Amino acid sequence: MFLVVPTPQAVADLVSTLVYQHIKAKPAAVLGLATGGTMEPIYAALVAKLQQQPLPLEKLTTFNLDEYVGLSAAHPQSYHYFMQQHLFAPLGLAPSQVHLPDGNCRNSAEECQAYSEQIAAAGGLDLQLLGIGSNGHIGFNEPGTPFDCNTHEIELTAQTRQDNLRFFADAAEVPTHAITMGICEIMAAREVILVATGQRKADIIAQLYTSGVDEQLPASVLKQHRNLKVIIDEDAAALLPTHLQQAG
Ligand code: F6R
Repeated sequence: MFLVVPTPQAVADLVSTLVYQHIKAKPAAVLGLATGGTMEPIYAALVAKLQQQPLPLEKLTTFNLDEYVGLSAAHPQSYHYFMQQHLFAPLGLAPSQVHLPDGNCRNSAEECQAYSEQIAAAGGLDLQLLGIGSNGHIGFNEPGTPFDCNTHEIELTAQTRQDNLRFFADAAEVPTHAITMGICEIMAAREVILVATGQRKADIIAQLYTSGVDEQLPASVLKQHRNLKVIIDEDAAALLPTHLQQAG
């Protein structure tokens, strides 16, 4: 389940190749996408591959995991903005093909319900890309989130707000809440790739390796998924048992 490669660039090359092959095999694929620092080199590598060897993308559909509550799509730290910048604009994807929860919606319960229904109407997710929070969150399903949740609004933990402070001018600007796909929708994806790079993730990757399935470590639910790859670099693998620490 754990695939260790030498560097973040090697992770980006491998994951972007897997996504590329997925789209090549199924041009009408439904992709579940993540944001965050881990994804930036992956999207850059995917864009480069698609520029070198174009594939038809008109039938592709994407659903992002999450969005901050209170940030408009035009806010430079919103996940709408991130995706537009790193993937959607470079690939020329139409607004009708891409989906993120609306962080500026008036009625969050209605927005969450509508987002779940859109995912279901698209036939569910073929391939879900995930990062992992230093506290084990996937999407913004923070520790303690019930595993039987669909898309919902969640209060971000102090740890997550601290981790994401690096993207904002100061602590007061970091949103307190987000809308996130739930564990149910993530687990229903037909294939899942969880990615982690850097020393910052070594501790949670070691915890994930040893943990049983436990709502206090949301990513541990993936141990019950039938088609999961965990792709990490050597820095993120540093606290795994010795035989797993180096690229094979
Ligand atoms: C982002 C998301 C989060 C991130 C996680 C890791 O859409 O769902 O779970 O994947 O917080 O973020 P980075 O990659 O910035 O360390």
